[in-house]
Parts: sequence; C-alpha cells; structure tokens
Amino acid sequence: MRTGGAQAFDALAPRYDALFSPAANPLVGLMRARVHAVLARHFAPGTTLLELGCGTGEDTLALAARGHTLVAADPAPAMLARAQAKLQHAGRSEAARFVQGGAAALADQWPGLGARVDGAFSNFAPLNCELSLDPVRRLLEQALPPGGRFVGVVLPRLCPLEVALFLARGQPRTALRRFRRHPEADVDGVRFPMRYYGARDFDAALGAGFRRIETRSLGLALPPLSFGPSLARAPRLMAALAGLEDRLAGLPGLSRLGDHIVLVYERR
Ligand SMILES: C[S@@+](CC[C@H](N)C(=O)[O-])C[C@H]1O[C@@H](n2cnc3c(N)ncnc32)[C@H](O)[C@@H]1O
Repeated sequence: MRTGGAQAFDALAPRYDALFSPAANPLVGLMRARVHAVLARHFAPGTTLLELGCGTGEDTLALAARGHTLVAADPAPAMLARAQAKLQHAGRSEAARFVQGGAAALADQWPGLGARVDGAFSNFAPLNCELSLDPVRRLLEQALPPGGRFVGVVLPRLCPLEVALFLARGQPRTALRRFRRHPEADVDGVRFPMRYYGARDFDAALGAGFRRIETRSLGLALPPLSFGPSLARAPRLMAALAGLEDRLAGLPGLSRLGDHIVLVYERR
C-alpha cells in the first residue's frame, strides 16, 4: 500500500510507544539519551522550542520537564493526540502548544500562527519524509532569530553497519536500500516516498543564512534501531557498543555516517 507519511504514522500511533519504548528496544533509549544530551548543550532551560515531527511526545515531555515551552508539530493527528494526552497526564499541558502539520505545511502557516521560538529541533527522522529541504529552510528562516539553533536528527545515505548486518543476514536489497534512486519508507507495511539526507544536503538547502556548528553520528557502532529488539538480551554488548559510539561519533570522517546523524545549525 502506498500513501503519505502522515497516514502511515497515524495508523502506527496507538502502538508507537510500545514498539519504541527503551524496554522493547534498548537502542531507542540509548539513542534518545544521546539526542537529549545534544539538546541540553544547545538549548538553555526555559527557552521556547519548535519541535518538528513530535510523534507521541516523548521529547516534548522530556523538554517540558527541563523547563522548556514548546510548539510541537506533527502531520499525523493520532500522534498529536497521544502527545497531548501524555503531557496532560504528566500535568504539563501548559508547556506545549500542539499544531498539526509537517515541515512544509508549517512553513506556509508560520506567519499566521503568531508563535515565537528561540530554537528548533526534529528527532528520529521526521524530515526524511520531506521530499525537498526547501520548506525546512523557509520555515527555519521565519521561525529562528539570529543566533537561534536548529538540531536535526536525520537518516543519512551512508550507514556502514546497516549494510554489513543486512548482508550478513543474506538481505542484499535491504542492505542497499539507502542507495536507491527513489527510496521508500516502510512504516508497518505502509510504503511511501522519502529521502535520505546528509550534512551536505542540509548545508546546500539551508544556505548562507545558517552555519553548521556540530555534526555527530548516531548509530555508528550502535546498530540501526531495527536491530534493537534482537539485542535486548545482550545488555553488556550494548553498553560496550555505546561506549565505542561515544568515542567515535564526533570524529571527522565518521560523524556523517550512521543509522542517524545529528546536525546542529546556527542562524546567522
Ligand atoms: C519516527 S517518528 C519520530 C517521532 C518523534 N520525533 C520521536 O522522537 O519519537 C516520525 C514522525 O514524523 C512525523 N512526520 C511525517 N512526515 C513529516 C513531515 N513532513 N514533517 C514533520 N514530521 C513528519 C510522523 O507523523 C511521525 O510522528
């Protein structure tokens, strides 16, 4: 079945937290903790942040708990409903305003929203659902003040461990999926077009108005997220890989490879 990303994620919303909880998939916990460390370094507590593709609000809640206020956006209504309920349940409804829309829709709506933010972020690949990064630039140009930062966690084309692990499993098509000319995401059996984006794609799309100030791999020594459930019974191996990841993730030459990469930009 082919459809847009929002519909696919809408159908997944009721099961998303169970599938991607740290208990079900320990890689999610390890990777999310590393993203939170980056966010904490770039966003001072108390600032207001735009979150693109908030999903069920895991990061929305974590950042609200750190004292941030958020404008949290997602194109999938069922994801937004879960995020809203999560904040309400935690007694933090006041911390977030939820807006329905993907990055492109938000770029068009932004002036009418009357929102002011200090920074922006997008975790675990929402922006790979955008077939062009031009709307992301348009949105960030409108939303961010000079000096404001954007942290994007996206799927790049080059993930050496994914290629090696799928080849070892005898799945060459899957091993090479990121190199296809017209790549497709498969969310729970629902397929839709997507794009893999590297640091150079973002540099070119964001242009001279933004300066990349940090690049880190996320999933270089740690295997891609889809391998998490099968590694749940090997906590010592995971801890060793996480330690190796922390030593390698910021090294020039390695920082642009991995399951995900973390890109940090500053608005000039
Ligand atoms: C893999 S989930 C990540 C959710 C959340 N950021 C997290 O860390 O759990 C991807 C999310 O991106 C949303 N999404 C899909 N297309 C999008 C777009 N064009 N712009 C922004 N978000 C999008 C989906 O609805 C989904 O909630």
